[in-house]
Amino acid sequence: MKTVISVVGARPNFMKVAPIDRAFKKYKNEVRHLIVHTGQHYDYKMSDAFFQDLEMPQPAHFLNVGSGSHAEQTAKVMIAFEKVCLDEKPDLVLVVGDVNSTIAAALTAVKLGIPVAHVEGGLRSGDRKMPEEINRLATDAISEYCFVTEPSAVENLTRENFPVDKIRMVGNTMIDSLHFALPKCENSKILEKNGLTENSYVLATIHRPSNVDEPEQLKMLLEVFDYLSKSRKIVFPIHPRTLKNIENFDLGGIVRDNKNIIFLEPLGYIDFLALMKSADFIMTDSGGIQEETTALSKHCLTLRTTTERPITIKSGTNQLILPEKKNIIAAIDRMLNEPRRAGTVPGNWDGKTATRICMIIVNEILSI
Ligand code: UD1
Repeated sequence: MKTVISVVGARPNFMKVAPIDRAFKKYKNEVRHLIVHTGQHYDYKMSDAFFQDLEMPQPAHFLNVGSGSHAEQTAKVMIAFEKVCLDEKPDLVLVVGDVNSTIAAALTAVKLGIPVAHVEGGLRSGDRKMPEEINRLATDAISEYCFVTEPSAVENLTRENFPVDKIRMVGNTMIDSLHFALPKCENSKILEKNGLTENSYVLATIHRPSNVDEPEQLKMLLEVFDYLSKSRKIVFPIHPRTLKNIENFDLGGIVRDNKNIIFLEPLGYIDFLALMKSADFIMTDSGGIQEETTALSKHCLTLRTTTERPITIKSGTNQLILPEKKNIIAAIDRMLNEPRRAGTVPGNWDGKTATRICMIIVNEILSI
């Protein structure tokens, strides 16, 4: 029996690992698949809700690292995960995405001589000021295998001399979760609860440090929301980082009494998906939402200077909007008044990526 550990830590990791855990069930006599949760995200709404919605089993180990500076968070994951690796002796560690838990777990495993496979490897924004970009570069540099979601990742890894035979274009496990959860959206009451109807509102999320950690930038974004609210209702589920900064910078006044802006706490996966599916369009600075809207053929304005997911712009319904007031307002006006470009869904974003990953792990990596 071989052991594979998949590491999750923050909200966008859960939907990437849930389908892999399900796909490993087929190999339960050959592979013991363990989920390790670092505890980077720990609030019920940022973590447990996703385990329920995605029907994930409880993690085999919970490391309880919590919040902290980047160094603290990374270091705490490394110390705790090293103990798990020494106890469980995995044959392979799977890390996903680009959060601090990803690089911390990869570095720990590699130093113990355990091979690492990076699910969603190879993505590059080119912006080294983003903590996620450092996590991506560093994780890929020490991973033995990369499972990639789009052609740009193959180009990036090849340019960085990653061995070509260890790159596998498998598709997107996040879209596996989307396929899994879409039928359940029918039971979500989130639209009724908030008095919303199909295509009548815009769904917005912002949490990137570059958008919410500077008072002027956050103030500008709230003013843009105020502008848009004159034409459409806005549903705004708030990430804890964003909420804390709105309070600390005393910016609540810009939007507090606006009846067309509906503030919500962070939502579970099914409710969020239901809102995305029925929105007129989406405004975000998230990575995963760019992909989910592409898969749903929903129009998305990504309020960032770069994206590590260019396929969503090249063939999907995503647009990259430089996050300055006049650009965002112009993009909103185009969205409200002009015909919208149709997008296509990348071929292997078909809901079967985790099955492909598990087959490669079992047959080629572990050679069972
Ligand atoms: C992290 C990821 C980011 C991802 C995001 C999704 C890194 C570097 N960043 O950013 O790539 O897009 O998750 O959500 O790994 N907090 C809570 N409850 C929680 C978690 C966090 O209140 O369950 C608060 C804490 O005050 C914390 C702050 O949010 O200091 C930020 O959390 P952190 O995990 O450091 O980064 P995120 O901004 O969530």
